[in-house]
Amino acid sequence: MEAPFDNSTKKNSKNLSNHTGEGVVVDIGTGDGRFVYRSALANPNKFYIGIDANTKPLEKISMKATRKPSKGSLPNVLFIQAAVENLPGELNAVVDEIHIHFPWGSLLSAVVTGEESLLSSMRRICAPECLVEIVIGIDKERDKSEMEWLELPQLSSDYLENVLIPKYRAAGFEIIDKGILDSSAWSRLETSWARKLQGGSNRQVIFLIFQAS
Ligand SMILES: C[S@@+](CC[C@H](N)C(=O)[O-])C[C@H]1O[C@@H](n2cnc3c(N)ncnc32)[C@H](O)[C@@H]1O
Repeated sequence: MEAPFDNSTKKNSKNLSNHTGEGVVVDIGTGDGRFVYRSALANPNKFYIGIDANTKPLEKISMKATRKPSKGSLPNVLFIQAAVENLPGELNAVVDEIHIHFPWGSLLSAVVTGEESLLSSMRRICAPECLVEIVIGIDKERDKSEMEWLELPQLSSDYLENVLIPKYRAAGFEIIDKGILDSSAWSRLETSWARKLQGGSNRQVIFLIFQAS
C-alpha cells in the first residue's frame, strides 16, 4: 500500500496531496519539523506550519528555515509552539490540510480516544473540506507500558469502526480512507519518527484520512 502522503506528488497519483489544491498545511506534533521542511521545499506554493508543545527538537530546522536563501531558508514555513488543545485563533478556518504523524504522550491519547478538546480545536482551524491525515504507529510489546499508563484502547478494527470514527464524525470529520501501512510505505513518510522506528518490525502503522464536513 502506498504511503497516504508522499512528497513526490508528481510521481505518485494516489496520495493525499492530490486531493488538495495549493493551500495551508499544518503538522501537529511536528517534532523536529522534518516533514514541514521537506514538504515546503517540494511544494513551494503551499504554506506549511509546524506546531509542537515542545520546541527544543525544532531548533535546528527552524534556524535553517529563517537563514539566508543561499543557506536553505524557506519563505513558506512557520513554526509555532502550542499544544493541540490550544491552537492559535489566527488559524481559525484557514487550514486546508492537517497532519498528525506518530503522535505520542498526550497527543497520542487525544488522537486515539477522540478527545473532545482535540477534535474541536482541529475542527476550528479547518477551511471547508480540509483533509486530516493521522498516522499512528504502535508496537504492542514495546509500547505496552505507555499504553497502559495512558489507559489507551487497543486499536482493533471494531474499536476504529464503532467508537473512534463515529466520534470524529460527530465532531465534523468524515472518514474517507483508512488502512495499515507496511513498513516500506511508512518509511517513505518524510518524518524523523518514521525513520527512527523503521527497525521495529512488530509496529503496526495505521493511517486514517478524514475530511471536514
Ligand atoms: C513521537 S513525536 C513525532 C514527531 C513527528 N511528527 C515525527 O513523525 O517525526 C510526537 C510529538 O508530539 C508532540 N506532542 C505531544 N503532545 C502534544 C500536544 N498535546 N500538543 C502538541 N504536540 C504534542 C511531542 O512534543 C513530540 O514532538
